[in-house]
This record gives sequence, C-alpha cells and structure tokens, in this order.
Amino acid sequence: MSTPLWSALVRFAASDPLRMAMPGHKGREIPGFPRGLAELDATEHPPTGNLYEGGNVIEEAELEWAKFWGADSCLFLTGGSTQGIHTMLMLSDSETILVDRVSHRSIHTGFALLGKEPVWLPRPWLSGPGVTGPIVPGQVEELLQIHPECKAVCITSPTYYGVLSNVQAISAVCHRYGAKLLVDGAHGAHLFLLGENAYMGADLVTVSTHKTLAAPGQSALLFGQGISMDALRNASQIFATSSPSYPMMAALDLLRPWLEQEGKSAYRRTAEAVQTLRSCYPSLTEQDAPLDPTRLTLCVKDGYQVEQGLQRQNIWPEMADSGHVVLILTGSDRAEDIARLEEGLSALHLQGEKRIASSLSVPPMPCQRCTPRDALFSPRESVHLADALGRIAAQQLAPYPPGVPVAAPGEVIDEKVLAYLAQVGYNKSDIIVLKERK
Ligand SMILES: Cc1ncc(COP(=O)(O)O)c(C=O)c1O
Repeated sequence: MSTPLWSALVRFAASDPLRMAMPGHKGREIPGFPRGLAELDATEHPPTGNLYEGGNVIEEAELEWAKFWGADSCLFLTGGSTQGIHTMLMLSDSETILVDRVSHRSIHTGFALLGKEPVWLPRPWLSGPGVTGPIVPGQVEELLQIHPECKAVCITSPTYYGVLSNVQAISAVCHRYGAKLLVDGAHGAHLFLLGENAYMGADLVTVSTHKTLAAPGQSALLFGQGISMDALRNASQIFATSSPSYPMMAALDLLRPWLEQEGKSAYRRTAEAVQTLRSCYPSLTEQDAPLDPTRLTLCVKDGYQVEQGLQRQNIWPEMADSGHVVLILTGSDRAEDIARLEEGLSALHLQGEKRIASSLSVPPMPCQRCTPRDALFSPRESVHLADALGRIAAQQLAPYPPGVPVAAPGEVIDEKVLAYLAQVGYNKSDIIVLKERK
C-alpha cells in the first residue's frame, strides 16, 4: 500500500522532532480533538514536503491519485472545489468563457476575480421531475460558432440533483473549436469508481472529495489532462492558503488505497440500494436523464414538508426545495443506514406517490448591463423586491427550483424576472443590487 505523504508524516512524528516551527500546538495536542491529529499536523519541512513545490512526498501522493484517476496531473486542494474552480478559470487564457447557466456561485466569483466575461450556455427543462436536464452538445457547438472568442467552456456535471451531462461528447465539440473544457465535478468525485466515464475528454476537472468520498470537509482534487503539475500549482497558489492542512492532505493520501481496495464494491452496493429506493418512491430516474447512480432526488408535492418529516426522525437530507428532497448517499452508508432511510421514507407514506409535472420552465435570460466583476465589486445596496424593477443584480438570484439563476450578477431585474420570481414564490424580500449613481 503506497501512501507517500501519510507515511512520511508518521515517520516524522515517530522521530521525536523538536518542532520549533508552526503549527503552535507543536504536534502535542489540539484540545478536544483525538490525540494523534496534532502529530500529523505538520508544516513545510524537507521530510514533510511542500504543496507548492515539486519533487517531494506530496507530489508523489498527488501523482498516485493522477494514476488512479487516469489524469496527467493532480493537485490536492484544501479550499474545496471553490479553490479548484478559481484555478481552472485562471488556467484558461480565454477572456470570454461559454459557461453553464446552472453554475455554483464560486464560478460567478471566479469570473469577477479574474475579470472574465460569460456567454451563457442554457439547459433544457425536464417538466416531469421539474429540474434542468443535461447540456446539449449541439447547443455548445452552435454557441461556439456564434462566439469564436470563447476558447474555454465551463460546465457542471453532475448537477446538485444528480443530472449528468455527456462530457465526452461536449469535449469533442470543444476541441473541434479549439476551446478547453473545464468541468465543475464538485458532486462527482466518486463516479470513476462506478465505471462511468464521467469526465473523459475534459481538460480540467475539479471534484469535492469531501462531498461524496470519505474525506474531511474542504478537501478536494483538481485533475489536468495535458496540463503540467507546475501549471496547476502555480495557478492554485493565488487562491490558496500558504499553510495547507497536512491532516487534510494526508487523508486524501490514505483515502486512495482504501478506495482501490473497497471503493468499487462499496459504491456499487450504494448505487444498487439507490436504484431500489428510486423504484419505490417518487424520484428523478434514469428515464428522465443520465444520473449519478448514488444520488437520490425525491420529487414530491412539498419538499420542505418531507424534509421536516425526515428530520423529525433524525434523518438529515442534503437539501430540499418546494418540489424536491436531495439525499447524498455514498460508499460510507452501511446496510443498516440504508434500511433506516427506507423506514424513514416509508413512515412518510410516499410509496407509489405520483410525481406532479412541473408547471415551470427555465427562466428567461435577462439583459446583461455590466460585467460580473463590476457587479460584485461596485458599491451595492439592499432593496425591497417590490422596488427592484430596473435595478442591476449584484449577486445571483437563484431560487430552487429551478436552480438556475433568474438573474446573474450584472443582469437587469426586469418585469420578466420579477414575474418569474413571483411564479416560483420567491420569498426573500431584500435584493442586493448595484447602488445607483446620483
Ligand atoms: C456545483 C457546485 N460546485 C462547486 C461547489 C463548491 O464546492 P466546495 O464547497 O467544495 O468549495 C459546490 C458546493 O456546494 C457545488 O454545489
């Protein structure tokens, strides 16, 4: 079992070092935490390596991950996929990027930080389950023809609800037009264990190991194809702490052999259980769209009520909206956990309940008045929804459903935006908008 970083940290701790360096606990004890954690919490010394320099135990551990994943390069991230997304955007030298309209706010902040301009890539609406569907490769092609200035395309797969896009087909289109494909795979770190070629063809992919693998909060991985380790390291430092957590990186190192040995069977068992649950309860299914096999998205009359019903039984879903409850299942869920979930769902009498077709559609695309950078970094104020007509959004307005921004930063809140917000029952009364120049 090869664990270059973990083993180096254990060796260093066992050598009884006199630690006249950071961290301040000196490897002795972090009050309230298990003994042993502090021992592994080291800093950059020759035996423990440096995340931002090559040729050490951290790079060895990263290269083991790259091999396991089938990538050319890999970087450990201690700032979540957010750090990886900012790094991917930094690495694309295109000023204008064709970008999935269903994007996490880290993509909007990345655009603002780096001064990039978006061309929005819409998604179709699936009225049966009431969620957005996969990106259509033909639409990527049409938009790249209209916008040849886009030398990068940035998409999310899977979505929060678990919908996968065909990354391989989209990458073929991108590469025909000389554009790099960047994928926010925050929710898909586990997919490679299930034999899905989920990220084949992508030039850069970021995955949140902490979301769907047995890894600590904030840990994530960035993979590159045809991109060097040095390039990843140099770009990521701009957004990263100069004191990355060694326990977090060591956990990633130790996770890999566990996944090599047990990951496939653990995630396959969970995928089978999810398939059974989908067939018993009103859910998003493979008939609607290609899905993450381990994500359970219930499609119900009142998502909040079902969420509360589960919480009353001490079962804690990932999220709920008016028509859905999203549950994240992973290889760490044991048979008894799945049985408990099944009992919890059964107590809510959802078996055999019919899904109600959504009356929504994707929101209209408002007019863009200023760049994401100007929208996020200019003076702003909060106005009542009723007074927001004609103002410019200074943050994204993205109620769930539809989970698509009704207005992105820099877009005008027009009548159609307000009508759509009323239709989805948007109930936050204060809207953050740009301050009007007097
Ligand atoms: C689709 C998507 N992308 C990116 C992120 C950011 O990930 P992280 O929390 O690991 O920074 C999230 C977080 O929820 C997300 O849902």
